[in-house]
Amino acid sequence: MDSRPVGMFDSGVGGLSVAGAFGELAPAERVIYFADTAYFPYGPRPAAEVRKRAFAITHRLLRDDVKLIVVACNTASAAAIVELRKAFPVPFVGMVPGLKPAAAGSRGKHVVILATPGTIEGGLFTRVLEEFGREARVDTVAGHGLAEAVEAGLAAAPETVASVRDLLAGPVRAGADTVVLGCTHYTFLRPALLAAYPALQVIDTNGAVARRAAQVLCEADLLAPAGRPGGLDLIVSGDAVAFRRTAVSL
Ligand code: DGL
Repeated sequence: MDSRPVGMFDSGVGGLSVAGAFGELAPAERVIYFADTAYFPYGPRPAAEVRKRAFAITHRLLRDDVKLIVVACNTASAAAIVELRKAFPVPFVGMVPGLKPAAAGSRGKHVVILATPGTIEGGLFTRVLEEFGREARVDTVAGHGLAEAVEAGLAAAPETVASVRDLLAGPVRAGADTVVLGCTHYTFLRPALLAAYPALQVIDTNGAVARRAAQVLCEADLLAPAGRPGGLDLIVSGDAVAFRRTAVSL
């Protein structure tokens, strides 16, 4: 048993989708969520810059004595998870686009990965592609502007539906029947995606990552005492009012 908090971070509101799933699975855990909005978006930044932020945030979360850190961001996982694990003694849970379940579930064996440029170009995704890329045709699309729309509270706006429609038009026309949301912000685009393409199967790994985090705590005997009320504390590096405004609208 361990009453210390769990740390979680993302560039903004995206990782709240993971925090929500984790809170349902492990309601006794207190989560400290670091939203790095002063450096949002991570997607177009060089990996070294995102890695520097991941290290700075980890130092900050460790000051609050977190027992586990969930990198609730595909871009930061791609840029830094290997180095974080080497540098810090705390366990980390990271994210990678869910190509495996998507390839298994795609009827026509044609999937499209929607992610940030940092995730698509990162080594983690290259390895997943090598491992599971033969099981289906895989198209990759960089979701230019989409995380920004979510962060601005425009996840369901008509212009966001139009962007999603344009970005995925090529792969869908070519027969893709499954889209993998390779960025935690995109989880909040499900309604926009389904408005643009109602027949598309939409896959994300937020639930799987939340389950993995709970499993790591359980295996290391780090779970908080059952029955204790958990909760979410926020640290926002940028405009906290804007962050909260978007968060409550999701
Ligand atoms: N939420 C982040 C991810 O999962 C990226 C958003 C951004 O570009 O900052 O990749």
